Amino acid sequence: MRPDPKLSDLPLRPELVGEEPYGAPQLDVPVRLNVNENPYPPGPAVVADLLAATAAVAKEVNRYPDREATALREALAGYLNSRHPGSALTAERVWAANGSNEVMTQLCQAFAGPGRKVLAFAPTYSMYPEYARNTHSQYLVAPRASDYSVDPAVAADAIAEHRPSIVLVASPNNPTGTTTALSAIRRIVCGTDAIVVVDEAYQEFARRPELSAVTLLGEFGNLVVSRTMSKAFAFAGGRLGYLAAAPAIVDACRIVRLPYHLSAQTQALAEVALAHADEMLAQVDKLRRVRDDLLLRLPKLGVEVIDSDANFCLFGPFNDRHHIWQRLLDRGVLVRETGPAGWLRVTAGTPEEAGAFYAALGEVLKEVR
Ligand SMILES: Cc1ncc(COP(=O)(O)O)c(C=O)c1O
Repeated sequence: MRPDPKLSDLPLRPELVGEEPYGAPQLDVPVRLNVNENPYPPGPAVVADLLAATAAVAKEVNRYPDREATALREALAGYLNSRHPGSALTAERVWAANGSNEVMTQLCQAFAGPGRKVLAFAPTYSMYPEYARNTHSQYLVAPRASDYSVDPAVAADAIAEHRPSIVLVASPNNPTGTTTALSAIRRIVCGTDAIVVVDEAYQEFARRPELSAVTLLGEFGNLVVSRTMSKAFAFAGGRLGYLAAAPAIVDACRIVRLPYHLSAQTQALAEVALAHADEMLAQVDKLRRVRDDLLLRLPKLGVEVIDSDANFCLFGPFNDRHHIWQRLLDRGVLVRETGPAGWLRVTAGTPEEAGAFYAALGEVLKEVR
């Protein structure tokens, strides 16, 4: 029998040589505050409806699912319209995929690619360079301002210099939690023909969630708003991300998507979650309060924290952040080593989880000071 080849024996694309699969450690520890999940599982009524939907799907699992996911896209449009009255979205202006990671990869497949550029504003979401790499696009960054928002003048200069075909603006931004004002977004979109993607993965956690780029869609044909059900919606395991944009942008995604990319289960379960939107989102206020408490209490422990509109906070700086991360983990608290050197990110979990985090961090800081 031939031995299994090593990766280095295979004709891997040169730009993938030495790359590691992306992902935060998935460790089974008591307090998991590292991937910005909503810590609250669905209640019994939602679970019952999810099970009923699963049973209905099982009876027809011999058939392919709806390739266009029309009912789901209608439900997503309905959800956005209910949160942003006047946006008048319809299924043809909404597209869905397996997480907003897939949505944004499809946008790169459709609008970037060889010889084209994707521009983002650092520090920002660590998957953006991977969307670009995986679609053979060049990834470039311009710096964020000192408050970590995107300065439209800096964006305009970077766009003029690099001529990107896609501009990615995360707002609230990961890992800083910073919102970029709608006036700045408007100026960025106004000044370019590139596709401008405002990644609002954490919008529902913002202090002013109604100030969404969804409200600008009527003004700009090159604007895309990306959303996810993974965070506030407490549906990370369901894998459902979506975008709202002009119908032609949705059509571009339809060209590059794999056939039947959204399974029947995904579509059915996401529709159930959307039918229970108020219940799925019921804990958002509680999580916002935990976030606000982090912003107040971390400075009292003697560490800096960056103002956040999301369900996490970036705190630091530490001389050796890996050491702090490890010492927290030793106490059963998992946070994320990401973002600018020396900083760590902690998700706003339940009040009990936050309590365990404060206690562990207090002990670790005593040890290292
Ligand atoms: C800014 C941002 N965008 C997009 C995503 C992707 O989320 P998902 O693929 O689960 O929809 C994340 C996940 O952490 C994120 O932080």
